[in-house]
Amino acid sequence: MSDLIESTAWRALSAHRAAQSGVTLRALFGADPKRFETFSLRSGALFLDYSKHPITRETMALLVALARDRGVERWRDAMFDGERINHTEDRPVLHVALRNRSDRAMPVDGRDVMPAVRSVLSRMRTFSEAVRSGVATGHTGERITDVVNIGIGGSDLGPLMVCEALRHHADPQHLRAHFVSNVDDTHLVETLRGLDAHRTLFIVASKTFTTQETMTNAASARAWLVASLRDERAVAQHFAAVSTNVKATSAFGIAPERVFEFWDWVGGRYSLWSAIGLAIAIALGMDRFEELLAGGHAMDEHFRTAPLDANMPVILALLGIWHINFHDRGSHAVLPYDQYLHRLPAFLQQLDMESNGKRIDRAGREVDYATGPVLWGEPGTNGQHAFFQLLHQGTHVVPADFIVAAEGPHRLGVHHQLLLANCLAQTQALAFGKTTAEALVELRSQGMTDAAAQALAPYKAFPGDRPSSTILLDRLTPHSLGALIALYEHKVFVQGAIWNIDSFDQWGVELGKQLAGRVFEVLEGRAPADALDASTRGLAALIRSRPGH
Ligand code: F6P
Repeated sequence: MSDLIESTAWRALSAHRAAQSGVTLRALFGADPKRFETFSLRSGALFLDYSKHPITRETMALLVALARDRGVERWRDAMFDGERINHTEDRPVLHVALRNRSDRAMPVDGRDVMPAVRSVLSRMRTFSEAVRSGVATGHTGERITDVVNIGIGGSDLGPLMVCEALRHHADPQHLRAHFVSNVDDTHLVETLRGLDAHRTLFIVASKTFTTQETMTNAASARAWLVASLRDERAVAQHFAAVSTNVKATSAFGIAPERVFEFWDWVGGRYSLWSAIGLAIAIALGMDRFEELLAGGHAMDEHFRTAPLDANMPVILALLGIWHINFHDRGSHAVLPYDQYLHRLPAFLQQLDMESNGKRIDRAGREVDYATGPVLWGEPGTNGQHAFFQLLHQGTHVVPADFIVAAEGPHRLGVHHQLLLANCLAQTQALAFGKTTAEALVELRSQGMTDAAAQALAPYKAFPGDRPSSTILLDRLTPHSLGALIALYEHKVFVQGAIWNIDSFDQWGVELGKQLAGRVFEVLEGRAPADALDASTRGLAALIRSRPGH
């Protein structure tokens, strides 16, 4: 058995879980009128209510003891100190330096990285302002109106999610931002349709600058531009790049003054704070981007200094551990009641599942406990009319995060009040449900015969005890969004520390990439199909038999 399972803290939690079985949220709320005050906290513009989880003060004390026992504080300090905590890639994990708004030095191998970070930020400001003001024009002197970010994974999801989330914070010089990620040519073709090459700027965003999808899209975008403007030299004014691989960017033909560097101590899924955020700076303005950084930094300071039992990311992480490891709940829903946050679940999918979807611990052993959950979600209220049926009455219990802003960005009639009402009502329905007896009373009061009411009541009953957290933002601003993203990053970090896994590598994406290379050769007719398994070979043969192959 692993150290984790054998630890005193884990055993105490297992015993506590057994003793707690049968305890309901109705009972917990009934017994403690101060439950909301006890199980909630504020950090800046974010308020977390976690009272609708099956926890008591003892549960939280035991979970915090587990975090302490697993060295969460030590791991946290090691990250901020630039230690090489990404051990399988032998790298520090220092995305917090990118949003460090203090004058604290952030060392990597004894050298402060802050001067380099500030220098890139300042170059981003100069460039984004030049594009936005029309000083940096296209090749034929026309103003840039559209920016196309070409990247995938962390080089796409972060800037895309932020640009969508903060559309309403763009000033009048708003440029249209587009994001092309999929190697499926539909994505590029449909994006370029209607764009004017004279007015389009491409940002090739790739940490490695070798990613197949990004390089393929970038080459096709380049060809489109050159064909449209009939001049190879146009590339210089219509392309910028963001990468740690500066050599490869120049090989692609991107002018050095349009290359924005970041560093290998920034993980792909943690990179939106780096120059990968260039599309954000151009679309929304550098001031907005810096406000986002400031929000992330505020959450870093909270995470770094607050005691574990009053530390928002730690609490979210521990609630996750409680559900995943002690209630066997392997799925987690993120439900933003905010249309602007419609890409947040997709962003968090990469953040959480690429970070903690692991089964080998830091000592190279297979774990004997569950790790990261299957994370998914959609904005409310849409989800209510789709998958909430399962959340309320299905056989799986899915812990959920509800995210909503107290104050909406627009003032259109009662829309925002209705949104808030729905959000709160859903958490209430999930937690407290409706008993069969209550359903019976309701049906009878509607004039139903006793027999009909008895028959229908089980369908109308809701079991309740479906846990959720509510994250209430004052308003959705660049600052509060920055804090929200950093909150989730640190949550994932804490869980990884407790599970003793490296949350910063992603070897699980490699095999598919390798195999795709081989299958591609077969589809192109450059390699025999014999080496493929029978299923893949059969499918490849079918595809190759189609006209045009
Ligand atoms: O395939 C996974 C991954 O390496 C992610 O971790 C990363 O965000 C994405 O690919 C894109 O990588 P790059 O920025 O190097 O193109």
